[in-house]
Amino acid sequence: MKYTQKMLRDNALKGKTIVVTGGGSGLGKAMSKYFLELGANVAITSRNLEKLQNTAKELEVETGGNCLPIQCDVRHYDQVLTMHKAVIDKFDRIDVLLNNAAGNFISPTERLSANAFDTIIDIVLKGTKNCTLAFGKHWIATKQRNTIVLNIVTTYAWTGSGYVVPSATAKAGVLAMTRSLAVEWAKYGMRFNAIAPGPFPTKGAWDRLMPGNLKDKFDISKKVPLQRVGEHQELANLAAYLVSDFSSYINGEVITIDGGEWLKGAGEFNMLEDIPKEMWDQLEMMIRAKKS
Ligand code: HXC
Ligand code: NAP
Repeated sequence: MKYTQKMLRDNALKGKTIVVTGGGSGLGKAMSKYFLELGANVAITSRNLEKLQNTAKELEVETGGNCLPIQCDVRHYDQVLTMHKAVIDKFDRIDVLLNNAAGNFISPTERLSANAFDTIIDIVLKGTKNCTLAFGKHWIATKQRNTIVLNIVTTYAWTGSGYVVPSATAKAGVLAMTRSLAVEWAKYGMRFNAIAPGPFPTKGAWDRLMPGNLKDKFDISKKVPLQRVGEHQELANLAAYLVSDFSSYINGEVITIDGGEWLKGAGEFNMLEDIPKEMWDQLEMMIRAKKS
């Protein structure tokens, strides 16, 4: 058994319809593919229709499932309502909303225009709010239960991080929304959870977070105690579990999947990892000598 293998049993998501925002590329595409393999109908949405259509065609051929591409800029509530209606028209119902769409780039905060800051907040926080509100209102009005919202955040939603401040601010808001609605809307049969991935290289993220030779300058796998980056299937396995009925008692949780990366940065003495083994005899002697 290997961690890149597919985890859930066949047809684990059969009968479910799942909407994945930002599903045309990167992690959204990887999760969509696995949902289709597990028997779900999947609608993928983003701004670029041509990209979505190509992805949907590719995923349908690979999985034999039904994948509906729909153009929708999550920053605009009217577009979200139109997208929601298009999915209902096609599949009759929606069971899961996966808020995965995001915008991000590295920059010293003082270099950002007000509009640059707004753009990230609008995609990540307002976009998640728009989809959650539209879908949630519909589920409440139609009394549909056993519905799920899964939000993709990141570990700096709670640690914060310099150089990606709009993203950190927005993801923190998404995490607060996840935990708040997990309680408030549980009475309507909805569950809310989040996944906080560490580094999972994708073109979208790496072009904006590791441009040029930054990838060579900072080997990101060295920040991870497990000494590697994540594999897309590992994330897809976790997401599929969280949108399946197997996770029915998990609500309001954020699950970190980062190989221990954020804790390595947080633990006061984790820098001692760099001490060579041979040096520990000498250090121990020095400490013991202080006893007298
Ligand atoms: C400073 C910048 C900038 C940069 C854009 N802007 N890029 N400012 N440095 N590198 C400014 C623009 O000048 C403009 O402000 C404002 O931001 C909006 O830019 P537009 O290009 O007009 O916006 P738009 O076309 O909507 O594109 C949004 C985008 C773009 C976020 C800028 O990168 C995008 O489409 N991203 C989507 C995909 C993505 O980001 N994926 C990565 C997610 S990774 P002015 O004032 O000039 O009008 C992720 C990982 C997290 O979230 C954790 C990793 C471990
Ligand atoms: P990605 O491929 O760039 O995915 C982002 C997606 O969001 C794109 O498909 C993009 O499609 C869509 N999008 C952007 N703006 C949008 C808007 N206004 N309306 C609708 N869709 C929009 O990057 P990724 O790495 O897969 O990221 C996916 C998610 O994982 C994000 O939430 C990200 O924050 C999170 N994450 C990633 C990592 C990582 O290491 N990769 C780590 C932690 C968290 P269009 O351009 O076609 O609109």
